[in-house]
Amino acid sequence: MTDNVIQPADIREVAVIGLGLMGSGIAELVARSRRRVVAIEIDPIFLDQGMGRLRASLDKAVTRGKLTDTAREEILARIRPSDNIAAGVADADLVIEAIPERMELKRTLFAELDKACRPNSILATNTSSLSITEIAGGTQYPGRVVGLHFFNPAPVMKLVEVISTVLTSPETSETLGLLAHDLRKTPVQVTDRAGFIVNALLIPYLNHAVRLLETAQATREDIDKAATVGLGLPMGPLTLLDLIGLDTSLAVLEVLQAEFGGTRYTPAPLLRKLCDARLFGRKSGRGFYDYRHGTPAAAAEDHHLASAPVPAEVALIRDPDGRLDELASEITAAGMNVVPQPSAKTGLVIVAADPKHRILDAALAAGHPADVVGIRFIDAGDGKPTLTELVLPDVTAAGTATKARALAAKLGLNAVISRDRPGFLTATLAYAQFNDAVRMFQDGYASPSDIDTAMMLGCGYPRGPLQMLDDADPAHVVTVLEAMHTATGDPAFTPVPLLAEYATAGTRFRS
Ligand code: 3HC
Repeated sequence: MTDNVIQPADIREVAVIGLGLMGSGIAELVARSRRRVVAIEIDPIFLDQGMGRLRASLDKAVTRGKLTDTAREEILARIRPSDNIAAGVADADLVIEAIPERMELKRTLFAELDKACRPNSILATNTSSLSITEIAGGTQYPGRVVGLHFFNPAPVMKLVEVISTVLTSPETSETLGLLAHDLRKTPVQVTDRAGFIVNALLIPYLNHAVRLLETAQATREDIDKAATVGLGLPMGPLTLLDLIGLDTSLAVLEVLQAEFGGTRYTPAPLLRKLCDARLFGRKSGRGFYDYRHGTPAAAAEDHHLASAPVPAEVALIRDPDGRLDELASEITAAGMNVVPQPSAKTGLVIVAADPKHRILDAALAAGHPADVVGIRFIDAGDGKPTLTELVLPDVTAAGTATKARALAAKLGLNAVISRDRPGFLTATLAYAQFNDAVRMFQDGYASPSDIDTAMMLGCGYPRGPLQMLDDADPAHVVTVLEAMHTATGDPAFTPVPLLAEYATAGTRFRS
């Protein structure tokens, strides 16, 4: 441990500036750690709203039996709302800024904090992606300026990124690492780079999901289901965008685009349009989903489809790997006739789908392309198929999707429908993010274990992206990415050199 490090026990009063979604969550978790909190908003209306959000969160914890009435009152008693920055920060040992993501606002605020705070207090910013070096540049003592990045919902997500600039003193980052543990969080120490670890990997993936929606690759619900059921993630990307805020995500993308360039960070036009329409997600009542009448209900489609008519005869084109053998028995058991080649009587033609190729060629070879559906079974990590991707070439007849969904519902398969593009839905979303994660390691920014820990604790991933990449096999991922690149012409899908190298050598990232 470095000498002169302020210990967490010496951080007794914390000022949180900005009581939006993140600020109120941070104020709550700091007050829960028995520290005094000054909750600052200069606009009294926002101050009231922020305190209301904080109270509602504590009330919910009491209702769920996680907190006693007395504990809630003690936590609230430790929080002092204030609309005066200079007075509010005067006695603070630590200031955490969580105001809107605009550089000029942050620089002005930090210049003010520099004068109003005690010389030994620490000044932290919860910025999602802005340059902390630039924020610190407006202060006289940049050694005490540091990034402290929490994840939404702040009281729940276990990760905190502690971000040092070239000017941050080692003692400052060490103190905040210790404090993070004291707040029952896990810190990862990183340097100042756009998006840090988590947002640099998460936000482009969310943007990719918006592009898939915008280009009609799949429905909103199916894109989300591919991530939750197919990849085992706690939330689908469009639901997560609504939670984080579309405006916040757009702002992060713009910073990533300015720093790294390239198509991966170009905001999807639909994301921009929804922001222009002020449909920011949960906080504004609407985003990709509509929250104005409570939490949106899950689509009830599969339930209705289970009783929809299914074709009497299904042609199943077997492949040498035997991937459809079990399906053939299930279809027969459900009372349908299975034939090896389509005839005039056949209602549906099923071929095995492989994310390395479009299925159009198999559809044409089968002779009845209008009736063809590709099927791919996906397991989220435990070896048992959890999701069925139904893949439809654009030449498929309009009714084929309904027949395929009805068949899946009858067989009890949890299914999504994807257009016929290499990678389909699940692999296209996941593998592009794996490629980004390898690029981050290749750049020397973070180790594979820090990358995986950050995504698991910051976003609730069951396994980190590099572990998932190892499990999927780097050589397979490279082939799918190359097919995605060829099909779309998008250079963002070109496998990064280190991934190609590991694939060739048969090396793994995590083991
Ligand atoms: N505030 C406080 N507590 C909350 C909460 C909130 N807003 N939302 C949920 N919780 C608590 C619940 O009370 C519950 O606590 P308990 O286990 O003690 O009873 C626990 O979290 C689980 O909640 P639920 O059972 O209601 O819901 P889920 O199991 O579906 O989990 C979730 C909800 C934790 C949000 C989970 O879906 C998840 O991990 N989602 C991913 C979130 C994510 O990726 N966050 C990072 C976004 S990126 C970011 O913030 C960076 C920024 O810079 C953009």
